[in-house]
Amino acid sequence: MISVLVAEDNESFRKVLRESLLREDYEVDEARDGREALEKLGRRHYDILVSDVKMPGVDGLELLKSARQADPDTVVILMTAYGTVDLAVEAMKAGALDFLSKPFPVEEFMITVGRAAERNRLLRENQSLKQNLSLHYDAAKIVWKSRGMAEVMELVRKVSQSTSTVLITGESGTGKELVAHAIHAQSPRSARPMVKVSIPVLSEGVLESELFGHEKGSFTGALTRKPGRFELADGGTIFLDEIGDLTPAVQVKLLRVLQEREFERVGGTVPLKVDVRLIVATRSNLRDMVRSGKFREDLYFRLNVVNIVVLPLRERLDDIPPLVDYFLVKYGSVAQCRARAITPEAMELLQAYSWPGNVRELENVIQRALVLAEGEYITPSDLPADVTGGGPGVIIDPVGGGRTGGDGEEKAGILGALKLEKGNRSRAAARLGLRRTTFLYKMKKHGLI
Ligand SMILES: Nc1ncnc2c1ncn2[C@@H]1O[C@H](COP(=O)(O)OP(=O)(O)OP(=O)(O)O)[C@@H](O)[C@H]1O
Ligand SMILES: [Mg+2]
Repeated sequence: MISVLVAEDNESFRKVLRESLLREDYEVDEARDGREALEKLGRRHYDILVSDVKMPGVDGLELLKSARQADPDTVVILMTAYGTVDLAVEAMKAGALDFLSKPFPVEEFMITVGRAAERNRLLRENQSLKQNLSLHYDAAKIVWKSRGMAEVMELVRKVSQSTSTVLITGESGTGKELVAHAIHAQSPRSARPMVKVSIPVLSEGVLESELFGHEKGSFTGALTRKPGRFELADGGTIFLDEIGDLTPAVQVKLLRVLQEREFERVGGTVPLKVDVRLIVATRSNLRDMVRSGKFREDLYFRLNVVNIVVLPLRERLDDIPPLVDYFLVKYGSVAQCRARAITPEAMELLQAYSWPGNVRELENVIQRALVLAEGEYITPSDLPADVTGGGPGVIIDPVGGGRTGGDGEEKAGILGALKLEKGNRSRAAARLGLRRTTFLYKMKKHGLI
């Protein structure tokens, strides 16, 4: 049962709230003023605190702060008849989930409390997730929930049991390298190394000797014999990153390794045999490169035995909440980071953004937000302008309720909705499919209040 403390000095109004909560099976306790509320909060845990802002003694904002200090899992809803946007923004910054302007219909109150109960459940889940994560924290962990990633993981599982070559494709930052690690880690070869070669960072001459090794004296500077990465990976896996950058000469050599399973060191004559599993990755479109003559078709067919396509993050929005939770744990241990969760408004913005840099960009955004956040929650103001501003989806078309792009359009959308609703902010917010608090936040952002 969810416990609610109602702090409200107006007795008859307090009774109304109490009765409606009891009807929906909440466990209810009451406080006549801020001081009594503080006392009660000190004595036991409440899941939700509903508090008036103006009360004799301790006011609602102070109450909010001490309640959340005592127990950060208490979800707070503030109510006031003197609702200014500044107050609402301050309340949300201090960690309030919602803000109700009196007078409000009881239905709106119950919906808000329902949302708070949901928030409370998520916080709890988050906490147990955190405990699990800190127990088995693993740098190569792939976090996912979407159907798109479920398919990737299923392929990873299947292909890890074979030795077939795998081609991993996807935009930058989607997690291709993690997928390569996962294949190796789940394979019977996991006790042997996975050797990575980043093709773009090596010049052609160096690349060849890096991959295949060289004999002593095979070129100026080859003072000793040196084994290549293929030899080092014997019995394990070799991961060639950004395979689209291979020069034609090395393409030929790689093709031969794949066909004959043997190669020579640079300057050497003895063919060497190795037992290596090959995984390659690229963000280029190899098929197009074959068409334009930049990549050998025969090599392409040899590489493209199993193709794992990692979708861009904007096509698997379901992965965003678990990734955010994961990065909060990963970077939340940094000293002076107080935030341990994210407000629903900020999450809404993250899910509406287009993520050109994919998971890597999301990881950076959370890292940065953790540094900026002042309270327990990451709020929209802790996110970069790119994310809060204009990505597709954030923005609103007041008439159709559809979503388009552009910061100017957002402002126009807000003004349009206000006009249509004759200045009623709650109804304008509803028309745009936004929560009232998000709507007020956006109005403030655009200097409309
Ligand atoms: N599903 C995921 N779960 C957890 N972390 C992820 C996930 N996907 C990506 N990351 C993180 O995002 C960053 C980028 O991932 P990775 O290097 O694997 O991407 P990539 O596709 O190889 O990028 P690039 O094309 O730029 O080389 C890494 O820090 C990685 O740990
Ligand atoms: Mg990579």
